[in-house]
Amino acid sequence: MWFFLDTANLDEIRTAHSWGILDGVTTNPTLVAKEGREHRAQIEEICSIVQGPVSVETTTADAEGMIREGIEFATWAPNVVVKVPITPDGLRGLRGLRERGIPVNVTLVFSLPQALLAAKAGATFVSPFVGRLDDAGNDGMQVVRDICAAFRTYRFETKVLAASLRHPIHVVEGARAGADVATMPFKVMEQLFKHPLTDVGLERFLADARRLQAELQARRARV
Ligand code: E4P
Repeated sequence: MWFFLDTANLDEIRTAHSWGILDGVTTNPTLVAKEGREHRAQIEEICSIVQGPVSVETTTADAEGMIREGIEFATWAPNVVVKVPITPDGLRGLRGLRERGIPVNVTLVFSLPQALLAAKAGATFVSPFVGRLDDAGNDGMQVVRDICAAFRTYRFETKVLAASLRHPIHVVEGARAGADVATMPFKVMEQLFKHPLTDVGLERFLADARRLQAELQARRARV
């Protein structure tokens, strides 16, 4: 399972990269706007840190605009993946980008039929939004399970990218469903480390190591 960060923040990306587990990054216009820098400069810097796929979202509603933007994004770095929404224009945009060899992540997916459309059109990634479905009173993870099962049945090559994850259980359930990728905020990635027994166990190991050191020092001082 690949782990992506869902952020445009460079400090977060550098930190996760230093852990050796960061496979890629997803951004969207909201996340980029939070950083307050020019879009291209921000994405180029992200792509210089992360070797894996970095999703960059188009900001037009028509296919021609998406193709135009996507072609430009792809010149920013070799690992850029262009994000388009699951709309008729989005799929036309996907086709135009694919014809030029540019990988596409189909975003704002909330149902299996939408995911099937994206896969049939040749998306590299499809992004079901789990947390937003949960917020609307639906079972977001069930949509991920359904997509994974259907893609397995029909052997689609499109990767399932579980998005809009809000807590570690979403990551666990995504792994159980067989999602290819989990993209998560930095806070959720940090939470994956946490277990109270790790904290207690580490505290005890360190205390025992310190006690032994002190005993050995005292013994040496006596002889
Ligand atoms: C995915 O690519 C999106 O950027 C993201 O996961 C949306 O998450 P949110 O619902 O927390 O905004």
